[in-house]
Amino acid sequence: MKEPENKELVKILRERIRAGGPIPFVEFMDLVLYHPGEGYYHSKREKTGPGGDYYTSPHVHPIFGQLLARQLRQMWEILGRPAPFTLVEFGPGKGLLCSDILTYCRTQLGDFYRSLDYVLADISPAGREKQRSLLSPFLQEKKVEWLDPQGLFDRSPARIGCLLSNELIDAFPVHRVQKKDGKLWEIYVACGLDSFQEVFGPRSNPALEKYFVLYGVPLVEGQRAEVNLKALEWIERAFRVLRKGFILTIDYGFDAAELYEPSRRDGTLLCYFRHTTSSNPYERIGNQDITAHVNFTALMKKGEALGLQTVGYAEQFKFLVSLGLLQDLENLERDSPGNSDPGFLKNKLAMRNLLIPGGMGTLFKVLCQSKEVGNVDLLGFQDPFRKP
Ligand SMILES: C[S@@+](CC[C@H](N)C(=O)[O-])C[C@H]1O[C@@H](n2cnc3c(N)ncnc32)[C@H](O)[C@@H]1O
Repeated sequence: MKEPENKELVKILRERIRAGGPIPFVEFMDLVLYHPGEGYYHSKREKTGPGGDYYTSPHVHPIFGQLLARQLRQMWEILGRPAPFTLVEFGPGKGLLCSDILTYCRTQLGDFYRSLDYVLADISPAGREKQRSLLSPFLQEKKVEWLDPQGLFDRSPARIGCLLSNELIDAFPVHRVQKKDGKLWEIYVACGLDSFQEVFGPRSNPALEKYFVLYGVPLVEGQRAEVNLKALEWIERAFRVLRKGFILTIDYGFDAAELYEPSRRDGTLLCYFRHTTSSNPYERIGNQDITAHVNFTALMKKGEALGLQTVGYAEQFKFLVSLGLLQDLENLERDSPGNSDPGFLKNKLAMRNLLIPGGMGTLFKVLCQSKEVGNVDLLGFQDPFRKP
C-alpha cells in the first residue's frame, strides 16, 4: 500500500518549484522536515519509540541518561563547581533524555543537581507539550526552561556548562552532490508528472567544492555524497554561546575518510518510517524522517579553527562502558530476584542493545569539545579495556 504523504506540503513544494525552477536538495529537505506547520518535525505525529518511526538511545534505556549524568557531573567538577552549571540540550525531541538525567541527578548526585540549570532548545515547538508533562516535577522546581535555539544564539549571555545533543546534527538538511564527467554537480529537485525528480545543476554554494578538498576526500566518478554545511554553522554558533565549558555531540557517523570512502557510492541518506528504512526521500513526504550520517572530522576541524579543543572522540559503546555500563549490568543481575523475571530480562536486553557491535554501540560516536578549559581527562573517554 502506498503510504500517505502530506498533500498540503506537496502542494507548497510544487508551487515553489514551478515559480522558481528546481530547488537544491538541501532546500527540499529543509521544507519537508521543517516547514512551519507542515514539515515532519512540526507535525504532532509520534516520531520516536515503539509507536513512532525510529528509536534513539534515550528510548532504548534510561541508563543512557544516567551514564551521561555521571560525565556531566565530572565536567561540573572540572569547571570548579559553578552555580549555575547550564546544560543546554539542543533537539530534545520528547524530553526523555532530560527527564532521565534530572531524575538520576536528583536522587544520586544531589550536589550537582542543586547547581544544574537545564535548558531545552528545539527548533520545533511540537514536542513541547509532551516535554512539559514528562518534566512537570522539574518544572515546579524551576529546574528546566525552554528557549528557542535562534533566540538563544542571538540574545543569550554566554554560558558556563555544557551544550549537549543526541541525534541533532544528522537531522540537519544537507546538500547532495555527485561526481559526474570529472565535475562535482549538485542535485536539485524538480517536478515530475506525479512525483518529484532529481536533476543535476551547478553548485549553489562555493563551499561545496572546497569541502572535499578541506577534508582530503575527493569523490570518485559516479559517487554521491551529502554535505552538512549547517553542522558547521551550528558549531560556530555553539562556540559563541558558550563562555567556558563543553560541547558534547552524540550522533551516528564517521570521520571524513570513512564517510566518503568510494565503497559508499550512494552516500548515506536514509529515511525512517515506522521502523523501516529507505533511501527514497520523495515518498511519504512530510510523514517520514530524512537523515544523513555526520562527518565528525568536519565538526572537529571547524571547532579547532574556532579555538575549541577536541577532548574526546569515541564509539558510543566505549564511552558508555567507560562510564560504568558493564558494572551497572552486573549490579542488575546481582540484585535481580529471579533471572527469568520478564521485567529483569527486558531491562537487561535493552541495556545490552546499547553495546551491540554494528548497531547503536559502534555506529554512534561521541565527540566532546571544550572551550577555555585546557587539557582534561574525561571519564567517558578513558580506555575501558585498559589493564590496571
Ligand atoms: C532525531 S530527533 C532527536 C530527538 C532526541 N534528541 C532523542 O534523542 O530522542 C532531532 C531533533 O532535533 C530537532 N532539531 C532539528 N534542527 C534543530 C536545530 N537547528 N536546533 C534545535 N533543534 C533542532 C528536531 O526538531 C528534533 O526534535
